[in-house]
Amino acid sequence: MTEKPFAEYAERNGGPILDILRNEFSDRSRVLEIGSGTGQHAARFAAGLPGLKWQTSDVDENHLGINAWVSSSRLDNLLPPLSLNVLGADLPVASYDAVFSSNTAHIMSIEAVEKMFRLVGRTLLEDGVFCLYGPFRQNGEFNTPSNAAFDESLRSRDPSMGIRDLEVLDQLGEANQLSRVRLYAMPANNHIAVWHKRPR
Ligand SMILES: C[S@@+](CC[C@H](N)C(=O)[O-])C[C@H]1O[C@@H](n2cnc3c(N)ncnc32)[C@H](O)[C@@H]1O
Repeated sequence: MTEKPFAEYAERNGGPILDILRNEFSDRSRVLEIGSGTGQHAARFAAGLPGLKWQTSDVDENHLGINAWVSSSRLDNLLPPLSLNVLGADLPVASYDAVFSSNTAHIMSIEAVEKMFRLVGRTLLEDGVFCLYGPFRQNGEFNTPSNAAFDESLRSRDPSMGIRDLEVLDQLGEANQLSRVRLYAMPANNHIAVWHKRPR
């Protein structure tokens, strides 16, 4: 059996994120997670939200680890990963009533972030909800010096990465029928931004 990958930060932030998802996803039935990473979050959130079917996804290189979490969790509502690179992916229209993604927007290039919003707008049902967790800039400012330093370290590793402006994400949302309805401050200077898909 493959060893389950483990990220300390995902263990730490999982509880506070789950508290928010209990609110945001309380009346939802089918969630797509984009960039499931280790698979830890999916296992924890599917266990904590048993009324939801949790669809994991990521680029193929992460599937072994995600599958290890899926199979060891033995949860009926946790589904093995879809092969999903937002740069090339196409998903069926209106097939989920919720989308979750964590710590992806600053890792993806801005082109990939644009494609992620397009994909989310396409695959969500009307009134569907998109929750995106991570660090954001607001009004052109980092909320802490540590996030400014994190941004610098990301950009020095790969110039296409970097902490995104919430205003830019909102514009991408608006272009894809998604209006932001909430912003939660989270531990360690992170946030969860929540967009709803407007009816046409
Ligand atoms: C920092 S990890 C976060 C993983 C997990 N969501 C978490 O919070 O622990 C970034 C994730 O984004 C995924 N990712 C990066 N580029 C992507 C793309 N173009 N399409 C889909 N996923 C992508 C990576 O494979 C990885 O799983």
